Amino acid sequence: MSKYFHYQQDKLFVENVPLAEIAERFGTPTYVYSHAALTDAYMQYADALKGREHLICFAVKSNSNLSILSLFAKLGAGFDIVSGGELQRVLAAGGTANKVVFSGVGKSVAEMRLALEAGIHCFNVESEAELVRLNEVAGSMSKVAPISFRVNPDVDAKTHPYISTGLKQSKFGVAYTDALALYRKASNMPHLRVTGMDCHIGSQLTETGPFIAAAEKVLQLVDTLAKEGIKLEHLDLGGGLGIRYRDETPPSIPEYVHALLNALSGRAEKIIVEPGRVLVGNAGILLTKVEYLKPGEEKHFAIVDAAMNDLMRPALYDAYHEIQPILRRAAPARQYEVVGPVCESGDFLGHARSLSIEQGDFLTLMSAGAYGMSMSSNYNTRPRAAEVMVDGAKVNLIRDREKVQQLFADEKNYL
Ligand code: LLP
Repeated sequence: MSKYFHYQQDKLFVENVPLAEIAERFGTPTYVYSHAALTDAYMQYADALKGREHLICFAVKSNSNLSILSLFAKLGAGFDIVSGGELQRVLAAGGTANKVVFSGVGKSVAEMRLALEAGIHCFNVESEAELVRLNEVAGSMSKVAPISFRVNPDVDAKTHPYISTGLKQSKFGVAYTDALALYRKASNMPHLRVTGMDCHIGSQLTETGPFIAAAEKVLQLVDTLAKEGIKLEHLDLGGGLGIRYRDETPPSIPEYVHALLNALSGRAEKIIVEPGRVLVGNAGILLTKVEYLKPGEEKHFAIVDAAMNDLMRPALYDAYHEIQPILRRAAPARQYEVVGPVCESGDFLGHARSLSIEQGDFLTLMSAGAYGMSMSSNYNTRPRAAEVMVDGAKVNLIRDREKVQQLFADEKNYL
């Protein structure tokens, strides 16, 4: 548990606020974030990169609430986006377009136009077909698009196959062996300006080795290009640094940054990074209520009011999130399957968790700040959770709980 979520006597607090207060005031399920934890993680990056020209582009997909984007923008962050929608969020939150990098394998014409209009920092191009399209779109607007290629370094990130992206067979990026030819082609296209090189090998990495191996492969290509007169201004090393959910021991942010800087020593290029999870993951939790306890012959169930639609990671990746009561009870613990109300056997939040709880108690799913709310859905016509940001003793509602009427407001009954 991070120091921003801590027990005082037997009550769980976020910063200076008991979580029970938040549950009672806003109801459940509710995502709760710590302003100090978010700031702390960002400042660790900024401090470790001090003295080097750099841009920290928060990966918006990991948590796209306007208050979170605004907080990072105020701290100086740029943003890594993967859709026109994310760009609009960033701008609505006060982010600066020229600090935005645009990743993703399927950018549409409309999204390219939006990004060119706004004047983003760089398009991370992921295929030859995209390159051709971007040149045309920029030409039609009499603009020049800044580009880098997302190069696939063919490095094993040693993480879950669903979130590993740097291997040859991956849909992401251009093949390492095609990159030279593509850079030559791009440098001759009239409406493009080649500015950088980019790679992102996967998410939830718990070692520095694969990051360094990828950086080294990228650098070899950069040097080969320089010999041909194609000089790059920036190196974007992606995101992917892991966090502790259970017993993982990822490098700390400074350890990771120093390892990268070491691999890049003597280089003049500006460094871009695209962290998502490590900035928000341990800064947020999902607060839920125990609706029912259902003892069984083989297993006991704790049925809570959050479900796979609120936090999809356990159902999707078999991901582990620590589960803590917000009131510690003295009674002996029992093993529970912690499950939601959704009609799928895959709707679980935790298996075999030892808990001392009663009906009506509140629980928290820890480390839920990244890819929690942003991946939530309305399956089973469940309104999405509220979101709250705590700053010291101040409690700010940063997203209202969705209302059921909103869920079918755009539907038409043609009968
Ligand atoms: N840059 C690019 C191009 C990415 O595709 C991603 C994440 C990031 C940066 C940020 O990676 P991070 O620092 O958060 O690892 N839904 C999954 C994770 C999917 C990651 C997708 N790409 C999960 O819940 O674990």
